[in-house]
Amino acid sequence: MTQLPAPPHLHVESLHEQKKRVLFVTSEFADLVKVGGLGDVSAALPRALASHHDIRVLIPGYSQVMESGQNIRIVGEVGGHAALPPCKIGRMDLADGMIVYVLINPELYERDGTPYGDAHGRDWADNHIRFARLGLAAAEIASGTACIRWCPELVHANDWPAALAPAYMAWRQVASPTVLTIHNLAYQGLCDLQCSAELGIPAEACSSDGMEFYGKLSFLKAGIAYASHVTTVSRTYAEEITTPAFGCGLEGMLQAKVADGQLSGIVNGIDESWEPRTDPHLVQGFGVRQWQGKRANATHVEQMLGLDADSGPLFAVVSRLVQQKGIDLTRGVAEQIVALGGRLAVIGRGEPELEAAMTELAQRHPGRIGVHIGFNETDARRIFAGSDFLLMPSRFEPCGLSQMYAQRFGSLPIARRTGGLADTIEDGVTGFLFRESTLESYQEAVQRAFNVYRHPELLSAMRCRAMAAPLFWRQSVLPYDELYQELLGATRLAADAL
Ligand code: ADP
Ligand code: GLC
Repeated sequence: MTQLPAPPHLHVESLHEQKKRVLFVTSEFADLVKVGGLGDVSAALPRALASHHDIRVLIPGYSQVMESGQNIRIVGEVGGHAALPPCKIGRMDLADGMIVYVLINPELYERDGTPYGDAHGRDWADNHIRFARLGLAAAEIASGTACIRWCPELVHANDWPAALAPAYMAWRQVASPTVLTIHNLAYQGLCDLQCSAELGIPAEACSSDGMEFYGKLSFLKAGIAYASHVTTVSRTYAEEITTPAFGCGLEGMLQAKVADGQLSGIVNGIDESWEPRTDPHLVQGFGVRQWQGKRANATHVEQMLGLDADSGPLFAVVSRLVQQKGIDLTRGVAEQIVALGGRLAVIGRGEPELEAAMTELAQRHPGRIGVHIGFNETDARRIFAGSDFLLMPSRFEPCGLSQMYAQRFGSLPIARRTGGLADTIEDGVTGFLFRESTLESYQEAVQRAFNVYRHPELLSAMRCRAMAAPLFWRQSVLPYDELYQELLGATRLAADAL
């Protein structure tokens, strides 16, 4: 007898059944609170994965989250453990269907400042408690003890603030697989060894096989030790962190992960809002070769930062002003840019000495260098759109999003050949790469940019290639989906074998 195809509604249901329940644990989520690229990725990656999986986010209830105007329903709670206090779990249903669980404890999280520190940039002294609490709450949700009527099959933790999630899961024998994504190995979440009692960490975990790191406890090391799989945000950075130059002392452990097939690099994507034709933040939208639209944004940037109008190429810095980003090197290159007739627009904030150095540059070169200490999304997007070149001489760069945002908006990145910059920029085609973290190497790339600027057809061709270069998240999520399937398949096989 001929087999009839399944009726459509059954087919839809079986597809739905394949969706896995995933908890995405993070300390930033751009809709609500963002310090850097982690916030962008945490808002975009779960959304892109939502068509494949039932993926929900867990984030601490900072003031910015609690006062966001979104309705928060209390759906569960977790008890205290050692010095980690009890918390309520709230649920936010965002307009696009994204579900965000909020870990609520006013004393711990509702403070003025960033997720990590006060308004002066000083880290909160109890960050180990605040983020251990986040990791433990994730483990409790995964073990079904948080009473939220939803239990993930896989937990995906991000960076050190969430890195204790896989560890608490292991200590509590929660068997679900875990992924740790390292967005930046340089931030490890260190605290004194004596804190182990406050955090309720078992004694055997406080050794160098567990989370002890040169006489301290390292949250990130715990995540690497206990996660089923570790990813980082580009292939080149995944290789770099296994070497002493980039491994921050964890290279040996990371090499072992590679040997076990448990470390991989998955490059970030960008979200669909990076569309220069329709972006509502821009003064004027533009498509490929519609450079008069770019020009309109440039005019706006010139007026905003007090730059001379329409003379010479416009270089830009849109960055956290920190050591990692090579801002001190840009200081040297700024003199070259001015000497060759270019202009420089800077927006960002960060370490006080680097902020002061940028402000001083602007005072020394009025009309040629304009600096805004601060950050807002609209100005950042207008600068990406209005500039000709983006400077990104990072000492290391796990992935970097700004270079891709710049490319989409026709601004050619000039960047060091490292991490995600090496993976997303094709030298002489979609931007310029230089090898050494030295002024000479950087200046040579800036000189090449000037040469291209003098040939409008070449500049235009490079802009067109750059605008088409970045991957969108809908393409970049596929390796995550494969990884989830692989880990869940592996767990099922292990369970079947028992
Ligand atoms: P990182 O996360 O290391 O800062 P990325 O390039 O991955 O670098 O992401 C930078 C993101 O942060 C972009 O969305 C960028 O527009 C934004 N950004 C840049 N500078 C600042 C700043 N000073 N404050 C807040 N966000 C910033
Ligand atoms: C970190 C890295 C940056 C990366 C971002 C998002 O902030 O410094 O390179 O793009 O995380 O993954």
